[in-house]
Amino acid sequence: MLIRDARVLTLAAREEESAPRRGGALRDLRVIERGSVRLEGDRIRRVSATPLEPLDDEEVIEAEGRILMPAFVDCHTHACWAGHRLDEFELRLGGATYLQIIAAGGGIMSTVRAVRAASQEQLAALLTERLQRMARLGTGTVEVKSGYGLTPEDELKMLRAIRSVSEDNGGDAPQIVVPTFLGAHAIDPADPNFIETTINETLPAVAQEFPGIACDAFCEKGAWSLADTRRLFENALDLGCRLRVHADQFNSLGMTRLAVEMGAASIDHLEALAASDLQHLARSETIAVFLPCSGFELDGRFAPARDLVDAGAAIALASNYNPGTGPSPSLAFAIALASRRLRLLPAEAITAATWNAACLLGLQDEVGSIEEGKRADLQLLDLRDERELGFEVCGPCPALVTIGGRPIGVEPLTPRV
Ligand code: NIG
Repeated sequence: MLIRDARVLTLAAREEESAPRRGGALRDLRVIERGSVRLEGDRIRRVSATPLEPLDDEEVIEAEGRILMPAFVDCHTHACWAGHRLDEFELRLGGATYLQIIAAGGGIMSTVRAVRAASQEQLAALLTERLQRMARLGTGTVEVKSGYGLTPEDELKMLRAIRSVSEDNGGDAPQIVVPTFLGAHAIDPADPNFIETTINETLPAVAQEFPGIACDAFCEKGAWSLADTRRLFENALDLGCRLRVHADQFNSLGMTRLAVEMGAASIDHLEALAASDLQHLARSETIAVFLPCSGFELDGRFAPARDLVDAGAAIALASNYNPGTGPSPSLAFAIALASRRLRLLPAEAITAATWNAACLLGLQDEVGSIEEGKRADLQLLDLRDERELGFEVCGPCPALVTIGGRPIGVEPLTPRV
């Protein structure tokens, strides 16, 4: 396939660049005006600033100046779940808070009960449907956390379901799917030794079957304490896991400083980041992951993203798609929210949802930019200025998405008048 005459947001790396972008570099989308991109098999074969002539039998798409950009990389989701929490949604509409619902035994534990009752195959089928929907919305790579099983068996069941869904592993989801172990997502009231079980049984079993997997935790009042998270993370590091953490979502418990000191790959949420921790995080290698769909869903609180960017932080942006706090699978919607509520420029949000998110998942050699030799994960938008991605809310799906070179959903492009 040849896509011609596009405004190509390449996000291409400069020589040997492999780190997340910060500061002014977040705004540089490394654009080629009226560029051509040739796909061959599952790869990007040519990226050219001058028009390319079609090869024999090559499908040609005339973009007429429309935006061609990398497919999104969604680096924080809980997209593997069973059941729903629509009753709790209505309770929240009536004024109940997320933490009150958790304290009453609902919230995450409500989804835990539904996931435990589901088989691995049922979980995989539900996840696949969601991933296919995300693919049509332009998302080519998805991180998916466990965390609704909590017992060793149920966490492994979730992680096996997550691993099984990608086409590479015989499933029907076109994306690269990256599993993360989130056994420390809640405190299971049914197990009086839950913390010990998680640290001494679940974590080692997971690390053995999924070597190098990231270990995540929800460090929050009513969930994991700072001391227990530290112990979990010390063990996880010993077992070769990378660290990620949900921190400062509602309360600042000191986890941000600790996570930076422990070399965590990311700290996600940060709506309640303490001002005294901001510079510390911004100067570190740890990536701040923003999840504005949750502030939109819950209480109108958002991470101090502008201040973090201005202080030089490495950032990423994700959907946080989940049955409680994450109602949207769309990264375009997250970008629209980030532009308003996080005060990020659209270009900063685009970099955060592509190249920087790929860096967080260690996949920057494969996805997150349009470069020769990389996986052909692209989206063609019926827009001519990428700032519209920040401006428009719930606009049309991409006109074309390719994941691994395969078209996902094609709508006819109407010629420019
Ligand atoms: O990132 N806060 C913890 N975990 C998720 C919510 C999961 C749920 O409510 O099911 C989050 O927002």
